[in-house]
Amino acid sequence: MAFPRHIVEEVRARTDIAEVVGRVVTLKRSGRNLTGLCPFHNERTPSFNVIPEKGIYHCFGCGAGGDVIRFVQQAQGVDFMTAVKDLAQAAGITIQDRPMTREERQKVEAKADLYDAVEVAARFMEETLLLKPEGEPGRDYLQTRGLSSETARRYRIGYAPEGWDRLATHLQRQRIPMELAARAGLVKRSERTGGWYDTFRGRICFPILDERGRPVAFGGRILPALEQQTEGPAPKYLNSPESEIYEKSKTLYGLWYARMAIQRKERVLLVEGYFDAVALWQAGVEEVVATCGTALTAAHAERLRRLTKRAIALFDADEAGMRAAVKSMDLFLDAGLEARRLQLTGAKDPDEYILRYGAEAFEEQLNHTEPLVEVVVRRTLEQEGAGPEGQARAVEALLPLLRKLPELVRIEMSNRVAGWVGMPVPQMLEKIGQSVSPVAAAPAPTRWMPNKDLTHLLWLIIHHPHLTGAAVMQADPAWITDQQDVLEAIAALCAGRALPDVLAEIRNEEVQRIMLKITSQPELYLESQVSAAANQILIRMELPHVEAKITAVNAEISGCANRGDTSSYSDLARAISSLYARRVALRAQLRRA
Ligand code: UTP
Ligand code: MN
Repeated sequence: MAFPRHIVEEVRARTDIAEVVGRVVTLKRSGRNLTGLCPFHNERTPSFNVIPEKGIYHCFGCGAGGDVIRFVQQAQGVDFMTAVKDLAQAAGITIQDRPMTREERQKVEAKADLYDAVEVAARFMEETLLLKPEGEPGRDYLQTRGLSSETARRYRIGYAPEGWDRLATHLQRQRIPMELAARAGLVKRSERTGGWYDTFRGRICFPILDERGRPVAFGGRILPALEQQTEGPAPKYLNSPESEIYEKSKTLYGLWYARMAIQRKERVLLVEGYFDAVALWQAGVEEVVATCGTALTAAHAERLRRLTKRAIALFDADEAGMRAAVKSMDLFLDAGLEARRLQLTGAKDPDEYILRYGAEAFEEQLNHTEPLVEVVVRRTLEQEGAGPEGQARAVEALLPLLRKLPELVRIEMSNRVAGWVGMPVPQMLEKIGQSVSPVAAAPAPTRWMPNKDLTHLLWLIIHHPHLTGAAVMQADPAWITDQQDVLEAIAALCAGRALPDVLAEIRNEEVQRIMLKITSQPELYLESQVSAAANQILIRMELPHVEAKITAVNAEISGCANRGDTSSYSDLARAISSLYARRVALRAQLRRA
C-alpha cells in the first residue's frame, strides 16, 4: 500500500516540524531558523537547523536532512509508511480513503486493547520492583547484578512477584478481561482448575518495546533462589509468546532507547542478553541492542541498517556462538551492514565483563574488534583442515561469501585467502568470478555539484518562487542545468508546489541533499534584490549558449561560402544578426546591473 499523495502533503502541511524535532532536540531560535545539536552525529557546536517556514531540517555537519517525515524516519528508525501513519495520527488525519470495514476496525481496536493490557502489566511490575514490599527480592537481586534504580527506571524493568495470580488479580481490578491478557501472553489458564495464573512469577521482567516505544512483551529472568522448583528447574528466562502485537523476528530489545545513540555513534553493538544491553547502557555504552532469545534475522539486520552501516556483534566464545557468528555474517552482508566481532576474554558476556573489570576496561575492548568476515574465513579454514584437499574444500566453501563482499573487501580478502592456502591470486579471483585485470576501481558515481550561479538561482527560487518563477520559466532549461531532477524541482517550485513536497519527490539522493543544504543557507539576498539577482544569473547562464551558437553559425556560414553554396545564406545571416543583437542586449543588461 502506498499513501495517496494528498495525504502525505496534508501530513506535512498540518505538522509543525519545530514541535516534532523539538521533542528530541533542544532548539534555539536564530533568525528564521532554529538551531541545536544534531541528534544524528556527535557535535559540540550546533550545526543542526530547522527551518519551520520551509518545513525542513538540515545538518551542515553530517548532511542529514529532509522534511518532517524524514526526521521521524531517521529519529525512530522506522520506514516511510510508519512515519506518515504516526504523524497523521498525531495531526488527526484519517489515512483511509475509504471507511474501515467492520473487521478492520475490530482488528485495530483489538490491538489497542492488547497494548493497554501489556502497558498495565508493565506498570504493575515496575511499581512492584520500585515501591512495593513484595518487590524486595527483585530489588535485592538487581543490586547483586550491579544495576542502579536509575537504570531500572529507564528501561522500565519490573518484578513479577511470586504467588500464582498477583498480576492476574491486578489486571482484573483494572477491568482487563483474562482472555485478552492471555492473548498478550500475560496469563494462562490452568487445565486442572480452569483458573487463570500469571505467566511470569518470581522473575525480573524486561519490557520489550515496539518501534513506537510501547511495551508489547516481556523477557523474565527467574530469581536464582527460585530456580529449583518441585517439578524440576525453572527455565532461566521466560519470554512472552508472539502475539498480534509482538513479532520476535522483527523486534530487538533496547532499540527504542538506543536508536538515537546508534545514529550519533554510527554503530550498533549487538549482544545476546537483556542484562548485557542494560549493563552496557549503565556503563555508558548507549548504542546497544539485544536479540532476545532468538537468532539474528534479516528483519533485524534491516532495521539496524536504517540507522547505521556498522555493527559490532558479541557472540559467545563457545561453539554455539561461533555458529551464530557464521550465520549472521550472511544476514549482515545482505543488509549492507559492515560487521565486526568483539571477543571478550575473561568473562562470558559483557554484563559479567563490566561487573568484573569495569566500564573503562570494556570501552578499551571496543578498540579490539575484528572484521566478522575474517572470523568466518579463519574458522572455515580451520574446520576444513590442512593439506591441499582440505584447503580446496575451504576455498569452495568460502566462495559464496567472498562473492557477496563489497568489491574492495572482496579483493582484499581474496588476496589473503589465496595467501593462506597458497593459491595464486589470479586463480583465486577467477574462481570468484572477479575480473582478473588488476583492481580496476569501479567508476566513481558522477557527482553533482552546482556552481555558484546555479546555487544562488536555486536559493532564489526556493525562497521566492513567486518573484522568480516567471523569469525562470522563460529560460531554456538547457541554460540552467542538465540535471533532470533539478529541472523538475525548479518547475514544480515555480508552479507553486510546496517545498517539502518537491524536495521529497527528488529521486537522486545527492541532488536532494544539496537542495536541502541550499535551502538552509542563510539569507543570500534581500527581498528587494531578488528579481534583479535572478535576472542577472539567468543572463550569465544564457550568454555562453549565445556565444556557442554564434561560433556554430559562423562556422556554418564560412562552410557555405567555401562550397559556394548561397541557398541558405540569407537564413544564416538572419540568425547570426539576431544572435549578435541578443548578445549586445544581454551584455548591456549585465553592465546596467
Ligand atoms: P544466557 O544464558 O547467556 O543468559 O542467555 P544471560 O543473558 O547471560 O543471563 P544472566 O546474565 O545469566 O542473567 C542469553 C539470552 O538468551 C535468552 C535470553 O534472552 C538471554 O538474555 N534465553 C536464555 C532465553 O530466552 N531462555 C533461556 O532459558 C535462556
Ligand atoms: Mn549474563
